[in-house]
Amino acid sequence: MRTYRFKEKYGSLINELIQDLEEQTNSKYIMGPDALCLLELLCDKMKLAPGMRVLDMGCGTGFTSIILAKEYGVTVFANDLWFSATDNYKRFLKAGVQDLVVPIQAEAHSLPYASEFFDAAISIDAYHYFGTDECYFNNHYARLVKQGGQFGIVSPALTREFTGGLPEGLVPLWEPDMYTWHSADWWRMMWQKTNLVDVTCSEDIPNGKALWRATADFELHDADTENYLTLMLMTAVKR
Ligand SMILES: C[S@@+](CC[C@H](N)C(=O)[O-])C[C@H]1O[C@@H](n2cnc3c(N)ncnc32)[C@H](O)[C@@H]1O
Repeated sequence: MRTYRFKEKYGSLINELIQDLEEQTNSKYIMGPDALCLLELLCDKMKLAPGMRVLDMGCGTGFTSIILAKEYGVTVFANDLWFSATDNYKRFLKAGVQDLVVPIQAEAHSLPYASEFFDAAISIDAYHYFGTDECYFNNHYARLVKQGGQFGIVSPALTREFTGGLPEGLVPLWEPDMYTWHSADWWRMMWQKTNLVDVTCSEDIPNGKALWRATADFELHDADTENYLTLMLMTAVKR
């Protein structure tokens, strides 16, 4: 397994923020696939530079927004639905990025941003919650990024579509919202056919299953004996 520089550089800050969060909510922070690793893999495929405006869509607790600001000097709009802007702002203050990261609580279908406002829009472990609707990209998301700007997502995915129904081993553990997981080819087609972007990369993350299983969904992965589960990464440039 490769080592991840964002984890080495920012791991202790993020652990401190997780500890605060657990104390405040009196509950364990539930982690999906490690967002720091996914962010690094995505950023390595994108070109981010100081002064750019970046949308971090579905940022959750805002850890990825903090790293984007610290690592690249970009201005980040940290947009989430479930986590409040005020709680995220407290984290941004603590991390010292309050001048670069703007906390916003907004639903994906009513985003309060001007068209072509962003140089880039990224989404870590979130886009599949709202982006599988064929109308979503062209009606809501594509307009946010300027011509020549970049899109990037990483999501739980399938190595191939379930052509014969759900694999038997997965049935007892399957949750209804997992139907939003799709293959990298499925995602490429989803965006490419809008003719609004050129998809520059759409692929399974190498060792995606192991990276995902390292922090989450252990039973599901163990039941996935046919290796359907993986993580996918897609980038595109606005035409
Ligand atoms: C699994 S969490 C990932 C959070 C963060 N990106 C990370 O990797 O730690 C998915 C996030 O997507 C956001 N989300 C889901 N549906 C959404 C919607 N319809 N509009 C905006 N955000 C949404 C949720 O608020 C949630 O924080």
